Amino acid sequence: MSKISQRPGAAATAMLGLGIYRPERVVTNAEICEVLDSSDEWIQSRTGIQRRRFAREDETVIDMGVAAAEDALKAAGITADQIGAVIVASTTQGQHTPHAAPMLADRLGSRAASFDVSAGCAGFCHALSVASDLVRGGSAEYALVVGVEKVSDFLDPTDRSTAMIFADGAGAVVVGPADEPGIGPVAWGSDGSQSQVIRQEPRCRQVEHDQQPVIAMEGQAVFRWAPFKMADVAREAVASAGLELADLDAFVPHQANMRITDTLVRNLKLPEGIPVARDIADTGNTSAASVPLAIERMVRDGEAKPGDTALLIAFGAGLSYAGQVVTLPPVAGL
Ligand code: UT7
Repeated sequence: MSKISQRPGAAATAMLGLGIYRPERVVTNAEICEVLDSSDEWIQSRTGIQRRRFAREDETVIDMGVAAAEDALKAAGITADQIGAVIVASTTQGQHTPHAAPMLADRLGSRAASFDVSAGCAGFCHALSVASDLVRGGSAEYALVVGVEKVSDFLDPTDRSTAMIFADGAGAVVVGPADEPGIGPVAWGSDGSQSQVIRQEPRCRQVEHDQQPVIAMEGQAVFRWAPFKMADVAREAVASAGLELADLDAFVPHQANMRITDTLVRNLKLPEGIPVARDIADTGNTSAASVPLAIERMVRDGEAKPGDTALLIAFGAGLSYAGQVVTLPPVAGL
């Protein structure tokens, strides 16, 4: 039997830079309610969302992902040709073939291994873990992770359980070698017995000459599951990083619904004074983009800073979830 060599990898990894993209168009609750049978008051009190952003009709998942990725590369101080793997987390790029990552890599001028991760709103935290393991395993010196969604393409504007929640945007990070571990062990899993709770439905939305499936959600089922199960996942992520909740400088949960965040924080018994991401008020639920967008908001608002220790938790369709403790990276433009 021949002896196969394996590559050594980095002893430790971290996020080296973060970039984001928020579409220009701000969509108020009033605008949503021009079509949806709801009200600004109901949306704010039940979801915490005041406004969100929708991409332009001609703006694609690739366009948004490239914008975020270019800024992540700048913040990390590396060039596209140094990237050894590009991982795109998205469920709204509109087609299974071709997948998004090679097109995104090409726009950056990269010929790196490029693949998509489909794990709903938990996609970014899954991809971050995969990227860290690729770098630690020696398969790439640097890996680019992009969480990007254009959920507006898949919304039925008359559906009361989705139309006011979801939104568009992108966030990207470069993962690479570091002197000290900056990405803790992932706590992750799934419950496929609830796979129908968030799903794509053939019930189609007419788009110009074409038809597009829509996203449907049993919101209450997610509500009964997420704030309880995610408290356990959060505790597991913190313990496996060798830390305690009191060691955290920030908590960045997936921006699903402000009431889910509030209930999760209560269930977790997060110590008072640890800032919690609440980007959802201005941004809506951007699925796989929500965690990096929320990090950027916290750093921009001075609630957290690069070098801080933060707990990330993401959950959604699948049902899938993933979370890890990280050191916050430098953020482009801040
Ligand atoms: O990111 C992926 C994971 N997704 C999530 O985390 C989403 C989790 N779920 C949610 O965010 C919430 O379940 C929703 C925002 C989708 C719905 O809020 P809810 O508090 O669970 O509402 P509900 O379905 O329990 O409905 C309560 C009431 C009902 O009226 P009655 O029966 O009490 O008279 C509904 O008909 O609110 C009514 N309702 C609405 N009213 C105005 C439901 N949706 C709406 C609406 N506008 N959009």
